[in-house]
Amino acid sequence: EKGGYATFMEKEINDQPHAVADTLLGRTDASGRLVLDELRISEEQLKAVDRITIVACGTAAYAGMTAKYAIEHWTRIPVEVALAHEFRYCDPIVNERTLVVSISQSGETMDTLMAVKHARDLGALTISICNTHGSTIPRESDAVLYTHAGPEIAVASTKAFLAQITASYILGLYLAQLRGGSFADDAQAVMKELAEVPGKIETLLGRMGRVKEIAKFMADTRSVLFLGRHVGYPVAMEGALKLKELAYIHAEGFAAGELKHGPIALIEPGQPVFVIVPSPTSEHGLHGKVVSNIQEIRARGARTLVIAEEGDESVVPFADEVISVPATSQLLAPLLTVVPLQVFALWLSTAKGLDVDQPRNLAKSVTVE
Ligand code: BG6
Repeated sequence: EKGGYATFMEKEINDQPHAVADTLLGRTDASGRLVLDELRISEEQLKAVDRITIVACGTAAYAGMTAKYAIEHWTRIPVEVALAHEFRYCDPIVNERTLVVSISQSGETMDTLMAVKHARDLGALTISICNTHGSTIPRESDAVLYTHAGPEIAVASTKAFLAQITASYILGLYLAQLRGGSFADDAQAVMKELAEVPGKIETLLGRMGRVKEIAKFMADTRSVLFLGRHVGYPVAMEGALKLKELAYIHAEGFAAGELKHGPIALIEPGQPVFVIVPSPTSEHGLHGKVVSNIQEIRARGARTLVIAEEGDESVVPFADEVISVPATSQLLAPLLTVVPLQVFALWLSTAKGLDVDQPRNLAKSVTVE
């Protein structure tokens, strides 16, 4: 059942090319146009949407944060991401033109369910992105877009996260196509690029030996920081969450631009910091800005563990370790850059002799508020 792996988590990390490929499957017609008949919400209703709120918890919320960058870029519809338990009790501004998208692997998380019910009561359209057929949240929503990651057994989410990003991107591209703006034609090009991602994850998984080595020698580490920018920011927070969940280490993810506004005070000699570097081809010169951040923390003695696009030599002088990921466009990069962070958490937890699949105090789905 673990497919020859020692833990479900290792198996599920290695399943990720399939999780993405299967989630993409059957969502385009022969000409490459997105078709989401399964949504069962009229095109008119979807076209009228003028605001999107994504509600979720934990890893699913980080998938939602990633989706915000993509959906806003493609549709120009304002997207807000709210932790479900905060959304439910903050008197949210929601009406019939608001699309509330919930993201949940299990479909049973009570916090997320209560948020969805509240949104429906307020008249919003609700779509659930979910991995579990027949679960409660899809039943309580107007429509569902299933992720096809297959059952996820390990408590810490890995393959469901990649499938959630994929499904929310499909939804964003579909909305862009429906609205027919300047971006509509590009939706097909992005779908083609998404189709190449599973192969790239496979390539990346083949290179994880070094990450395992690094993790093995860090069993005594007490704190790890993660920096990222744009879509690398939610990836940084997901990397930190994996480490808290699995290795019980204090870990925190920051927006790299925020470094100088406080977190840089945490840097002392030997502090390990993962940095997710945007592609050198990213818009707005973000690459150079993050490379400067690496220099700044390196100068203060940080141990820099740098995740960068393959062929990006500019990071080499400031990196204690470089982990190369295959090139892809800026918005799709999280589907690759998060993988080394998952692998790192897996092997650090293993190095500490902990229960990878069933970390202490956690449940796979939390069915109380
Ligand atoms: C948790 C799990 O409490 O719920 C996390 O431990 C998960 O791994 C979160 O991300 C949300 O779960 P779900 O099923 O709603 O995606």
